[in-house]
Amino acid sequence: MNRNLALEFVRVTEMAAIASARLMGRGDEKAADQAAVDAMRTMLESVDCQATVVIGEGERDEAPMLYIGETVGSGNGPELEIAVDPLEGTTVCANGGTNSISVMAIAEKGGMLNAPDTYMQKIAVGPEGKGLIDILESPKENLKRLAEAKKCRVQDLTAIVLDRPRHKELISEIRDAGARIMLIGDGDVSAAIATCDPDSGVDILFGTGGAPEGVIAAAALRCLGGDFQGIFRPRNEEEVERAKKMGIEDMTRVMNIEDLASGNVMFCATGVTTGNLLPGVQFKSWGAITHSMVMRSSSGTIRHITAEHHFDKKPRY
Ligand code: FBP
Repeated sequence: MNRNLALEFVRVTEMAAIASARLMGRGDEKAADQAAVDAMRTMLESVDCQATVVIGEGERDEAPMLYIGETVGSGNGPELEIAVDPLEGTTVCANGGTNSISVMAIAEKGGMLNAPDTYMQKIAVGPEGKGLIDILESPKENLKRLAEAKKCRVQDLTAIVLDRPRHKELISEIRDAGARIMLIGDGDVSAAIATCDPDSGVDILFGTGGAPEGVIAAAALRCLGGDFQGIFRPRNEEEVERAKKMGIEDMTRVMNIEDLASGNVMFCATGVTTGNLLPGVQFKSWGAITHSMVMRSSSGTIRHITAEHHFDKKPRY
């Protein structure tokens, strides 16, 4: 994969972020998401590639744009697979909360798992915990292993967990183990990435969230040298059937990071509303400022890009 492609793709998340940020706090989740989808789809046409959407807005019959299987890009250039979440944290953006991002992960053909839109139990850690985590073990055991690797006490570790009723037992297990907990309302992609940032104060992610977000997080952690495991947690028979159609026969299998995103992968994210990972879009009289991160697994380089978008020169914004 040409490394310059990563800089092409960041334009895509920048445009989606600006479009959805315009609708921040307007209380309309659908409109905010649609704005991001439209912008992402439009901007993708300008990128020289033939990219198949592997994780997108849903099945063809339920999503007119960025549906699973859709081919996007200019039609010239390498064959790629992309996982997109034009607005990760839709509710957050609609409510004017923190931590919504526009995000996409890119892999070579065959590199990205075609994950159904079901739930996934997840565990994620930064580079110090790589190879040590085991999703089949208890949170206590995983915390113990991570504390040993980080040469600290379990009491000094912070676990990040989505604040959901389904996590009641998980939260009490983490508390019993003695670790600190950061509960978040939404956004477990940013949360997984936070485990790789020594300044985030986050050491490990536990809990169940969207499976598509799991694939995107795994791609990000491949670039950051972290580790990730997931197990599908289907909510009903229909989701099991859907997964079978996508080629996933055994939904109980532990999916390792490479099962989710393998080979050379790239990752781009742009902040929509301000969060720990990225500042949100700031609108100015002349346009907007965006903050993005762009990473590649092959080099491990993490670029933070601040861009000034002058709307008089970019009419489509
Ligand atoms: P959306 O942007 O699709 O709303 O996802 C936000 C999110 O918090 C994800 O980060 C997370 O994986 C998922 O929702 C959790 O799902 P639920 O809100 O059903 O618990």
